[in-house]
Amino acid sequence: MSKPVYIIMGVSGCGKTTVGKLWAQEASLPFFDADDFHPQANIDKMANGLPLNDTDRQPWLQRMAKEAKEWSETSGAVLACSALKEDYRQLLESTTAINWIFLSGSFETIYKRMQARSGHYMKPEMLQSQFDALEAPAYGLILDIEQPVDELVGQIKEKYLMQVKSTIGLYGLGVMGTSLARNIAGKGWSLSVHNRTTAGEERRVDNYLETYGNDKTQGFKDVAAFVASLEQPRKIIVMVPAGKAIDTVIDQLSPLMDADDLLMDCGNSQFELTNARMEKLGAKGIHFYGVGVSGGEKGALEGPSIMIGGDTASYPIVAPILESIAAKDAHGKACAALVGPQGSGHFVKMIHNGIEYAEMQLLAELYALLRPSMDNEAMADLFDGWNQGPDNSFLLQITAQILRKKEKDVYLLDKVLDQAANKGTGSWSSQLALQLGIPNNMMSAAVFARYVSAFKANRTVWAVAPKEIETTIDLEQIAAAYHTARLINHHQGFELIRLAAENYGWQIDLSETARIWTRGCIIQSNLMENLVATLGKQQSILEAPEIRESVHSNEPKLNYLLQLGLAQRIALPCFSAAWNYWLGMTSANGPANMIQAQRDHFGGHTYRRTDKDGSFTSNWETNG
Ligand code: 6PG
Repeated sequence: MSKPVYIIMGVSGCGKTTVGKLWAQEASLPFFDADDFHPQANIDKMANGLPLNDTDRQPWLQRMAKEAKEWSETSGAVLACSALKEDYRQLLESTTAINWIFLSGSFETIYKRMQARSGHYMKPEMLQSQFDALEAPAYGLILDIEQPVDELVGQIKEKYLMQVKSTIGLYGLGVMGTSLARNIAGKGWSLSVHNRTTAGEERRVDNYLETYGNDKTQGFKDVAAFVASLEQPRKIIVMVPAGKAIDTVIDQLSPLMDADDLLMDCGNSQFELTNARMEKLGAKGIHFYGVGVSGGEKGALEGPSIMIGGDTASYPIVAPILESIAAKDAHGKACAALVGPQGSGHFVKMIHNGIEYAEMQLLAELYALLRPSMDNEAMADLFDGWNQGPDNSFLLQITAQILRKKEKDVYLLDKVLDQAANKGTGSWSSQLALQLGIPNNMMSAAVFARYVSAFKANRTVWAVAPKEIETTIDLEQIAAAYHTARLINHHQGFELIRLAAENYGWQIDLSETARIWTRGCIIQSNLMENLVATLGKQQSILEAPEIRESVHSNEPKLNYLLQLGLAQRIALPCFSAAWNYWLGMTSANGPANMIQAQRDHFGGHTYRRTDKDGSFTSNWETNG
């Protein structure tokens, strides 16, 4: 564990040496004076009465930065150093985390003190130049030197030695981490925050404290100090990009943590990796949680939907915190739940995203279908209208907003390149469905549509003009078709959870999953509100006779929408997938007998019969 390094800073005459020495004594640390680290050239220059410039200061600051690293690895230290400018401080802390103590006082106070101390007249210009150079930090411990010295040392002690422990820690102050931290602090929890201090990220903790800090938030640049600042059992939220970064952070934190502490990965990690990490940390007695957090930056700040995977016994330790920061459902209950053990939280979040991909793709296909006959405003009006009814959803709302957005006089959407990116969760969901034999063709159609969009160069060269049609589009039929496709998408998504969870031996309550998705998350919608009851009554959405009846009666509408696409040469992969799935699932006699016969013909793979039990093989070349 690294040792603390304190730098007592401020203009000449503010009391750095006096306070620094007393603090070093109190904390049993060696004391150093910055003046003792000047290279000979600087000493000579100062002896000749010449002021130092920033070039002269570089080797001096670099040497102290090097020493600071050594101190942090050996004895710890208290250093008295003016460190007036932010640049100087950044250089000093480029090698190790520093606890800054700024002795702040007015020109008058310090000037008076200097005169009294030295017993002779000091030119006010000299002190004034120090004040001119001073870029007062807003971070660290800021002490008012009007107080007696003992009082100042007492305050340092209170902050650093008798530190009040925080209830929870958050590692990772990117966009999502910052929003979550603000949400946690806003709910009154005491919080410690930390971010790595690699190039470009040195000031994240300072920036957070300067912008959002409150009296219950502490920031740490040193990871050991961050962990040490937490009450036990420690609870740490990690919000870093999924993948390698999370393993790096786990390797950094776990040696500093004890048995019974809790570590929560709140990124979009692959759930199989979460299972493995859980096992590894479990061996040390650390409870590892895979936590899916949905709602983007705004959701993280105002209340996300939280899907938690972990062990039931330790969940009560974090439940009050996670539930307090989550969105609230229509009955005021938190949209946060322990969905199951192991990586089930990340698994459910992954499928949330699979559903999200298909919901987004359906809206993109509607946009493609309607834009030849409707301008952006008219389409936004249409979607806003739908938002007043059963198809109200967060994604439909933002789609209307996107359509209306103008940059100067031009619709911004028209300037956005039509190549969709992704971070993997949609394809992981599809891969899982393929692997387990679960027909999730809508989310995979959505993933493939994004992949097709990536081939912009080919699409441009191979482009064929769309067909224009002379017809007035029946928007009521389109609305019904959209509603129907959404029902099928949700059915497929929840089926993927149900069937895959069975495979892992997880008991995931689908109605409860729908409930925590009613607010806070990207796929929150009116439909989701209804599905809470539907999935409380039967295990799958299409098992509900009234829902099957609604899809059945809307078949002509879905058909109408697809015909419109065909007539105009507009690809509708996700709507088509919905239609094909529905037709397949509602055909008692499919053509798979032909597949089986073909398999048996060329490979003797055997087939089953409808008229007798058993497994059969035939010579398909001769009759009899
Ligand atoms: C959420 C979102 C979020 C995801 C984005 C982008 O629930 O808040 O699902 O977790 O990162 O949707 O995902 P893609 O980059 O894969 O589109």
